Amino acid sequence: MSDFEVIIYEKHDNVAYVTLNRPKALNAYNIRMRDELYEVLGAIGDDAEVKVAILKGSGEKAFCAGADLTEFLTAPAPVFARKARFDRDIWGRFLGIRKPFIAALHGYVLGSGIEMSLCCDIRLASHDAQFGLPEVGLGIIPAAGGSQTLARTVGISHAHDLLLSGRWIHADEAKRIKLVNQVLPRNELLAEAQRLADIMKKLNPLALSCAKQAVTRGLDLSMDEGLALERRLANKVQNPKP
Ligand code: COA
Repeated sequence: MSDFEVIIYEKHDNVAYVTLNRPKALNAYNIRMRDELYEVLGAIGDDAEVKVAILKGSGEKAFCAGADLTEFLTAPAPVFARKARFDRDIWGRFLGIRKPFIAALHGYVLGSGIEMSLCCDIRLASHDAQFGLPEVGLGIIPAAGGSQTLARTVGISHAHDLLLSGRWIHADEAKRIKLVNQVLPRNELLAEAQRLADIMKKLNPLALSCAKQAVTRGLDLSMDEGLALERRLANKVQNPKP
């Protein structure tokens, strides 16, 4: 894999760790990060040794403070900067990962930061986490999948509340609206992510993958179609191909 500048990719005991690593810029998501993340996600999907992945941010202050605003300001035009982000279907790749992905969120979790976490299956937050979607206030809309994933996670009312008001919420409210699964002291955040990963990595990978698919793909189907999908996946788990 290439040398990375803004992401740290590590693998220990069947768990992949992806760390957003621009702490001086509060891990703002830039084009370089998009390219590196794209590569890392491909590796996670392809590497049979990886059973579970954890996404986290480096530094004390932020998981990710959203899209890199300096790229918007220095590119020939904001439209160009945005287009560059659409060139790769990174969010399709992220959402298509069939292994459990856990997000460990601390500090600022803004814009693309929330959206990246919504591509994960389980979100853990520390007490200091703050969540917000500033996009509409900047004259744009979320384009890292968030307009779709947020409502699927918290429901349309909370999605509209956060998206249209731009208001920020603290970890406890994020837990109340089911944006995150758990809120923990900062110094227990990673340990809890690792504890969950350790449980999941010992489970049957095919059962994990099919359970994830049944839920996430099923959300886009009618009940009848969803039940048919469930039957197909259950059959696949019970009769795995040699
Ligand atoms: N893009 C690029 N750089 C960013 C950034 C972003 N989205 N968010 C923060 N940074 C940089 C700051 O420019 C600053 O850099 P500097 O030290 O070279 O001046 C550094 O990160 C620290 O940020 P700072 O603003 O000093 O920290 P703070 O604690 O006072 O405020 C925030 C934190 C998150 C409230 C503030 O940085 C902010 O509002 N950021 C923009 C959030 C945003 O609108 N994101 C876009 C979503 S689409």
